[in-house]
Amino acid sequence: MSEPAVEGTSGDGEKKEKKNESSYEYGSCCPHVAQYGPYTVEGLESGKTLKWCTCGLSKTQPWCDGSHKPSPFRSYKWKVPDRPQKLYTLCGCKHTKNPPFCDGTHVNLPAVVEERQKKCKSAHEEITKICTGCGWIPSW
Ligand code: FES
Repeated sequence: MSEPAVEGTSGDGEKKEKKNESSYEYGSCCPHVAQYGPYTVEGLESGKTLKWCTCGLSKTQPWCDGSHKPSPFRSYKWKVPDRPQKLYTLCGCKHTKNPPFCDGTHVNLPAVVEERQKKCKSAHEEITKICTGCGWIPSW
């Protein structure tokens, strides 16, 4: 199982693969962990384009509900294959390297996130939505 990809050519003529559709790279932005494990989804319609939540704030996980606005995050567009599987395990921690699928990154993530948030230098008391430096969100 892999994400849709498009082929490109680098300047030296060497073929390279790059991510399809919307980018999953947001520079140094860190998403919020929606949950430390995947969402299992079924009954997806073949050929349909779905928007996987990348920021971790959506209330309709694993899908985007627009909660990322006005942060730099954008949804990750994923087209359900023409011959879909019965079940998919989609990333809930938002740290996968193979979006929108769970790649196991969540296993060692709690300690990483805790450490990252401890070291974050952003003024969290001024943040109303998400700290893009560490993924912290207000608890209210
Ligand atoms: Fe994100 Fe598994 S839930 S990698």
